[in-house]
Amino acid sequence: MKADIYYFSATGNSLTTAKMLADCLGDGSECIPVASLPKTGTISVDATAVGFVFPVYYGDMPYILREAVGRMDFSGSPYIFCVPTYRGHQGAAAQRLNQLLRGRGQKLSLSWGVPMPGNSRLTSAQEAAEMLSLQPERVQEAAKHISAMEVSDYDAAEPLEATRVDKPCNFRGIKADENCTGCGLCVSVCPMDNINLQEGKALFGDNCITCLSCFHWCPVEAIYMSLDESIARRFKYRHPNVTSEDIAAQKRQS
Ligand SMILES: Cc1cc2nc3c(=O)[nH]c(=O)nc-3n(C[C@H](O)[C@H](O)[C@H](O)COP(=O)(O)O)c2cc1C
Ligand code: SF4
Ligand code: SF4
Repeated sequence: MKADIYYFSATGNSLTTAKMLADCLGDGSECIPVASLPKTGTISVDATAVGFVFPVYYGDMPYILREAVGRMDFSGSPYIFCVPTYRGHQGAAAQRLNQLLRGRGQKLSLSWGVPMPGNSRLTSAQEAAEMLSLQPERVQEAAKHISAMEVSDYDAAEPLEATRVDKPCNFRGIKADENCTGCGLCVSVCPMDNINLQEGKALFGDNCITCLSCFHWCPVEAIYMSLDESIARRFKYRHPNVTSEDIAAQKRQS
């Protein structure tokens, strides 16, 4: 099956999942980073199979993808699937995507989640190693069901609840401390261009989708969540096969 796979990833789980999925589906399936799409205007989607791979945030979809889907103009009625990556709870992410697609005259046909190490709540080292080792076969399993063009129902019985990620907001007070060296790496990995360097220090705005990319990739761990002491300097996670350059490249590829 040839599919266009739109993906977003902060720490590599969804990036590697999207690439594995494209390989499994074959036929020249392509991965398209959502962060590289134009920030305004219609996004034309012209493929007979369209996929979305993304991390689950608060049982929902990342804002960057929600916003992009809301501007998508699909030609015909493609087979649409998603593969959310998540630590333990997918919530209503598939229902949210289906709702957005309904607004564009389409529907979600299949959601097949892939459990991955958490980049927000702690996954034990042993659990993370197991999840990483199972990733290839879990993606293959997803590809099998997608290739068979399986269909399920994602219309929500109740209206979807509001979540903390309905719109950009730096509600965790993400900022850099005095150890910031001004290296600019956080600027390059931020999908929302929400970080600027001023007088050699990283400054954060409010156009934040709490993806934690900056938090996990800062080489000197200067970034912390200033509004919640209990998680301020929580563990760092990065998929072992992904580099900061791979994450930053999402903004450039098309
Ligand atoms: C802000 C935030 C909220 C999250 N919420 C959830 C959640 O509700 N359920 C869950 O299973 N995982 C949750 N996670 C974990 C991620 O979905 C998971 O680690 C994902 O695979 C990360 O993908 P990435 O490496 O492509 O960014 C959350 C992560 C972040 C940063
Ligand atoms: S990645 Fe870290 S050290 Fe580099 S500019 Fe950003 S906050 Fe400062
Ligand atoms: S500021 Fe950090 S957490 Fe917020 S969108 Fe940018 S990279 Fe993600």
